Amino acid sequence: MDNVQSGILAPPPRLACYLTFSLKSHGAVAPAISSLLDIVDGNKVVLGFGYPVVGALNRQIDGLRIFPSFFGSGLALPSTPSALWFWVRANDRGQLLHLARKITDTIAPAFDRESILDAFVYDTGRDLTGYEDGTENPKGDKAVAAGIVQGKGQGMDGSSFVAVQKWVHDFAGFAKLSSKEQDDSIGRRRTDNEELADAPPSAHVKRTAQESFDPEAFVLRRSMPWGNGTEGGLNFVAFGKSFDAFEAQLKRMVGAEDGIVDGIFQYTRPVTGSYFWCPPMRGGRLDLRALGL
Ligand code: HEM
Repeated sequence: MDNVQSGILAPPPRLACYLTFSLKSHGAVAPAISSLLDIVDGNKVVLGFGYPVVGALNRQIDGLRIFPSFFGSGLALPSTPSALWFWVRANDRGQLLHLARKITDTIAPAFDRESILDAFVYDTGRDLTGYEDGTENPKGDKAVAAGIVQGKGQGMDGSSFVAVQKWVHDFAGFAKLSSKEQDDSIGRRRTDNEELADAPPSAHVKRTAQESFDPEAFVLRRSMPWGNGTEGGLNFVAFGKSFDAFEAQLKRMVGAEDGIVDGIFQYTRPVTGSYFWCPPMRGGRLDLRALGL
């Protein structure tokens, strides 16, 4: 699909870094974004626009909204809107550093960098708790159907809506649980990734079972572990044709449906929550017609 930022559909790279930016100067937004066109190739660099920047351009993207922090009952979660989100994907730490610097310097007239996060693949694609992550991700045509906008017209088709949450793990708290309690929190066995037949309703894979929603709630997860010294967790990243499937899952995870909170909250918490719209590609460059650019 040459109208999609190809990094979205590709498997995660070994190393990556995530950057977010806030708006500094409304007037300088359009030229700063235009100057990104030579840097963002959709593969080594994937870009998403947040609600604040779309507003600054006096545009609207149907379906793009601010991350909800509350679903009426259950746990409240942080909502941290950012203007821009970059997923820089390279297998070389030096290349990542130079790309991050280039992006930051190029858009400095209009945007301040808010955060930079180093991410990596752990072992065979495990979360830092040791559990395989991504097993039930849709693949091939199903990945496209779940993650990519289609049938919405020029400038929108090929785009994607991405939900991003930085989760911080409490490794000491996790280690205090027995291996049965740990497996029950996910609903899969860490040793062989088998789904547990007798998992409790709080098990993460029971909360989020994609076929169990009406309508079915499939997303394309591209999360990566992050680490900084001895701190770490998961940078949860889910691409969707809209935010609806992600929101349905999150709602159930926080117990807003039935009061049952997802088992993973015993040892991990999100500290950010943001939504972005990742524009399509056209002729090898970002297609920004929906933003009037
Ligand atoms: C630190 C946070 C999280 C961790 C460690 C985590 C870990 C996992 C693991 C180990 C699995 C089982 C293997 C797999 O199918 O990938 C899984 C499944 C899944 N997770 Fe998460 N997850 C986290 C947050 C989330 C969030 C915030 C959502 C969505 C709101 C989510 C949605 C899903 C979905 C949809 C599945 C597949 C369920 C199915 O259809 O079987 N996860 N997760």
